[in-house]
Amino acid sequence: MMDLFTEIEEPERKELKALRKELEEANYKYYVLNMPTLSDREFDEKMHRLQALEAQFPDMFDPKSPTQHVGSDLDKGQRTKDKGQNGKGFETVRHKYPMLSLANSYSREEIEDWVRKLPSGAEIVCELKYDGLSISLWYEHGILVRALTRGDGQQGDDVIANIKTIPSIPWKIERNDIPAFFELRGEVLLPWERFEALNKEREEQEEPLFANPRNAASGTLKLQDPREVARRGLDAYLYYMLGEELPGTTHYERLETAKQWGFHISDAIKVCKNVDEVMAYIAYWDTERKNLPVATDGIVLKVNNLAQQEELGFTAKTPRWAIAYKFPAEKQLTLLKEITYQVGRTGVVTPVANLEPVQLSGTIVQRATLHNEDFIKSLDIRPGDHVWVEKGGEIIPKIVGRDNPTPPLPSREGDGFTFPTVCPECGTPLVRVEGEAAWRCPNEAGCPPQIKGKIEHFVSRKAMNIDGLGEETIDLLYRQGLLHNIADIYDLRLEDIAAQERLGEKSAQNMLAGIEASKQVPWARVLFALGIRMVGETTAKKIARVYNSIDALQWATAEQLCAIEDVGPQIAENIVAYFNDIRNLEILERLRQAGLQFEGEAAEGPQSDKLAGMSIVISGTFSHHSRDEYKAMIEANGGKNVGSVSKKTSFILAGENMGPEKRKKAEDLGIPLKTEEEFLEMMN
Ligand code: IVH
Repeated sequence: MMDLFTEIEEPERKELKALRKELEEANYKYYVLNMPTLSDREFDEKMHRLQALEAQFPDMFDPKSPTQHVGSDLDKGQRTKDKGQNGKGFETVRHKYPMLSLANSYSREEIEDWVRKLPSGAEIVCELKYDGLSISLWYEHGILVRALTRGDGQQGDDVIANIKTIPSIPWKIERNDIPAFFELRGEVLLPWERFEALNKEREEQEEPLFANPRNAASGTLKLQDPREVARRGLDAYLYYMLGEELPGTTHYERLETAKQWGFHISDAIKVCKNVDEVMAYIAYWDTERKNLPVATDGIVLKVNNLAQQEELGFTAKTPRWAIAYKFPAEKQLTLLKEITYQVGRTGVVTPVANLEPVQLSGTIVQRATLHNEDFIKSLDIRPGDHVWVEKGGEIIPKIVGRDNPTPPLPSREGDGFTFPTVCPECGTPLVRVEGEAAWRCPNEAGCPPQIKGKIEHFVSRKAMNIDGLGEETIDLLYRQGLLHNIADIYDLRLEDIAAQERLGEKSAQNMLAGIEASKQVPWARVLFALGIRMVGETTAKKIARVYNSIDALQWATAEQLCAIEDVGPQIAENIVAYFNDIRNLEILERLRQAGLQFEGEAAEGPQSDKLAGMSIVISGTFSHHSRDEYKAMIEANGGKNVGSVSKKTSFILAGENMGPEKRKKAEDLGIPLKTEEEFLEMMN
């Protein structure tokens, strides 16, 4: 009897475990890697199913289940270190009040139900649901002292240096009517315009694009370089004030107060008295939100009266006094007319869907990436199918499936989709490296888009920054036989350029001035400009710090290269292969003759080896230098700055208010602390 019983239960218990695993993974990919794999709706549906199963099998309760905690954006120093990368560099701090999430609803009926269950006459504040990432700002005596990400809801990363780059967030409030401590929570966003500009730049650099402004904002906030953060142009909207001695008895009053204190509070907030007013608000913003400068994905409803909020209280993960209504993702069915193939600078062949144009979230969509062969096969789509195109929070339209069944569908066998076997641009047989999803054209030196792409990358802003040599000009000079590789740039003569139609003497002179100026571009950027596969801007900087000349780098073995932070076996192999190719050596020699910087300035490499082999944790606040400056100092003296304390830590550079957890861990492991002054003395 018992056996029979367990057998019947088994599949559902299995499903429960599988769902926990899937949702844990989805949380990690969403919050830590900024690469969502499930849509919000799919995530919520799976979460509901898991909740139902957990209710059915109370004996399987687990406090670690994703139903019991919010996802975490904490940088897992350990996890990244395992991959040979640096840990984080942010201090993890416990929230004064847990940072919860909101219950989601997808239908107006659910909203009506929620409103009906509230105490009669309860006022409801309607707000837009901003689609960025939440931040908690701490003000002590009017001074911004911390800016914490949500983290796992209990503790977050302090990203204050990056938050201070947001012009609308005050560093200091000079008033005498503010409490000694208060906290403001809100959403950090990358406005659409900035997001599109950033992705355009990344496309030019062949860096992976951000799927939506939320991922871009999240990636930006975790950068270790506040100057780059400032350049990207984040913004923030604040929507929740917390603290002990706060003014007002309603949520709305508090937001009004925050506005008077100089905080950026949305103008779209409305106090509603009944469900009809709420519905009118939702209907209005469902269309009007398309004209906003930032992404929104729904509406948030909050009980206005704070005493009523307190009565309603919280569940483990969400307040009962608030709920979110999510706008439906827009989806359209359209014909997949043709699949074409694009060859990038590194030879990767990307399939592109050419669609019958459809209107989606205010734009016409006619092309969408199909990523690679596996993606096409997993959706089982081919030209002639009707496919679903979706554009929710994702600005980049994506194909999410095919109409099932595609009419008429006698049999899909026999005429299945096949990926091309030769390069669509130059006819060379394609190769697929084991373990990689992409097919690649190996004809680096003879395939036109690869040749032009490498030159475009070389002249781009973050590389050699040569003005006047844009995509069209490169194409023109390539077709005229004047540009075949990056070294040819330095052989261009005024008369050759000026003789081209559309390029007068003036633009020829500008171009030559840009080429001349590029000879001063520092070694790290020259290395990035060479376009070695997978050697991005940051990796190039790290390599150039260790190998401060091309001659030194040229002889490095893969094993030696792997010792550099951020350089894994694949990148190391790519570098070695680059220097093993005689064609590259010829080009490098010509570039050397042209006078490019093939050596780093002294400041770029380690200035001393005083800290060689040491792992140093920085914690707390400092008065002589910023954290970033200390980090640079550590690296310049051969040390490594790591995020979390372990038995391998050499010492902790401890400022004021060092995190209590770090202090305890250091004590437990017997790791020494050095004050700022002691450290500076050590550095002389
Ligand atoms: S209130 C305790 N208001 O949505 C409730 N959240 O899905 C605190 N969000 O973590 C949140 N706009 O990051 C609130 N007007 C708004 C919001 C908002 C966006 C985000 C926030 C929260 C998430 C929950």
